[in-house]
Amino acid sequence: MTEEETQIEENTEEKVEEAPEEEAEETTETEETTETEDTETIDDDDEEEEDGLEVLTGIGPATAKKLEEAGYKDVKAIATCAPGDLSDAADISEAKAKKIIGIAKEKCDMGFETADVLMEKRKVIGRLTTNSDEFNKLLGGGLETQSITEAFGEFGSGKSQIGMQLAVNVQLPLDKGGLDAGALYIDSEHTFRPERVIQMAETIGLDPQEALKRIKVARAYSSDDQMLMAEEAEKYLREGDIKLVIVDSLTALFRSEYVGRGTLATRQQKLNRHLSTLHRLADLYNCVVYVTNQVMSKPDMFFGDPTKPIGGHILGHSATFRLYLRKSKAGKRIARLIDSPNLPEGEAIFKVSEKGVVDN
Ligand SMILES: Nc1ncnc2c1ncn2[C@@H]1O[C@H](COP(=O)(O)OP(=O)(O)OP(=O)(O)O)[C@@H](O)[C@H]1O
Ligand SMILES: [Mg+2]
Repeated sequence: MTEEETQIEENTEEKVEEAPEEEAEETTETEETTETEDTETIDDDDEEEEDGLEVLTGIGPATAKKLEEAGYKDVKAIATCAPGDLSDAADISEAKAKKIIGIAKEKCDMGFETADVLMEKRKVIGRLTTNSDEFNKLLGGGLETQSITEAFGEFGSGKSQIGMQLAVNVQLPLDKGGLDAGALYIDSEHTFRPERVIQMAETIGLDPQEALKRIKVARAYSSDDQMLMAEEAEKYLREGDIKLVIVDSLTALFRSEYVGRGTLATRQQKLNRHLSTLHRLADLYNCVVYVTNQVMSKPDMFFGDPTKPIGGHILGHSATFRLYLRKSKAGKRIARLIDSPNLPEGEAIFKVSEKGVVDN
């Protein structure tokens, strides 16, 4: 039963059209130049002052303030964001946002990097345990920081259970497979259960009350909410005690809000922007990003285990690691790794029990 086909459908949806490019307009730096704001040059923010956003031509103090409030504190954060995000955050046109990002990229000397520099960056990649040895082995030691891991599978396949388990595991010290940090949990399906966290924490020897305190949960009620929360996550990540961001479910709200054919392009565009925010968080803050995506198995197919994501396949290849989960007998779950950039495809069997995610 190891080599069932999973027939992952390619992203067949229409290409997203670019938003029409308005001319870069007003920068009116004079707008609400609130008095004492200039004290920020002497704030303790340790960064050398070249990092201040005003070094970017076209950003005046008012825009810089808006960006900082939205979580874009330094030039690198700007250089790595999507034009749409920036234009929303700073209330500027997308054309202008693109220009600013271009300037930021130049300042950061972004573009080609030699592979040895990349290798250096990869050396600090951390790995987060799933709490199952077999599952960890499939992932080359656990979920990687600087990447997005997507778990997709039908209802009850264990996507949320893994999410809660990771939120607990991340608190473990490094030598026990954790990252010695807390988690942010964006819960769009309202299935986060503190009771489960308590059970899971007890199983791995953590103080349940402490474990609960280190998980920050936010409920998203709309896709806009969800996107905003991911952007706000940056504030917490910057403080340093967070090394895991969970979005459970990544896709449900987008699917329920954008249903008709005509809305697919918008949905895809927003989802892409959301994913690019998440990629940026993973990359800049060396953290694990775990997202879930419900798919439905097609009852009319008899061979293998074909899956048809609800509403079409909407993630394409945006996640770095893609795990296809399915249920088996007696609490057993099968995880299949698909499309990894550096690991062989394969499967792992684990269990979801009262104790959480455990070896079979
Ligand atoms: N306390 C528990 N003891 C044992 N098994 C449990 C417990 N809590 C949950 N489970 C198992 O986990 C399953 C639910 O898994 P989970 O919530 O992760 O599904 P999911 O993949 O997130 O589904 P959905 O797509 O509906 O969100 C239950 O059906 C049950 O088998
Ligand atoms: Mg779930």
